[in-house]
Amino acid sequence: MKRIIVYYSLGGKTDLVAKTLAKKLNADLVRIHDLKKRNGFAGRLVSTINAFRETKTHITPSNVDLTEYDTVYFGTPTWSGNPTPAILTIIDRCNLTKKDVILFATMDSNRGDTNIKRLEEKVKMRGARVIESFTLATKNKDPKQLINDTEAIIEIKDLKMY
Ligand SMILES: Cc1cc2nc3c(=O)[nH]c(=O)nc-3n(C[C@H](O)[C@H](O)[C@H](O)COP(=O)(O)O)c2cc1C
Repeated sequence: MKRIIVYYSLGGKTDLVAKTLAKKLNADLVRIHDLKKRNGFAGRLVSTINAFRETKTHITPSNVDLTEYDTVYFGTPTWSGNPTPAILTIIDRCNLTKKDVILFATMDSNRGDTNIKRLEEKVKMRGARVIESFTLATKNKDPKQLINDTEAIIEIKDLKMY
């Protein structure tokens, strides 16, 4: 069973969730970087609009080869209730035919569910079978708490099965 986690993180919280999953599930890890400036007030405003409109962006790496993997995780923060431009850009470049996919979304406190719903539509359009998904609220949580929450989800969702 070979697993890979493909994710985007701006502020580091999704990064910590992804790294905890990778460690516990013995999965490979690919962080997608968005080349557009997303920090500061202006960056956040643009990001909100881009996420709402599902605007594509320039990313690195520009592609991920999923050929050897059985299970593919996609992880992203929630931006205005939507997936981030970086994760949608990479999903639209992946061949997910016959891949088992697990989706996860971090959020401050709400609208992670609409993010997951949209991700689900996007990966299914590319041939994936969604076998699990989860959201994780990150507001006011320190790294230790985020690691604990992620480890709890692994147990509750029985993610070692896939
Ligand atoms: C542009 C922008 C829009 C956001 N929109 C939402 C939102 O709709 N709901 C929410 O709960 N959190 C929202 N957040 C907060 C992030 O989803 C949350 O802090 C996430 O865990 C950050 O992950 P990261 O540190 O990996 O970037 C938003 C953050 C940004 C920068």
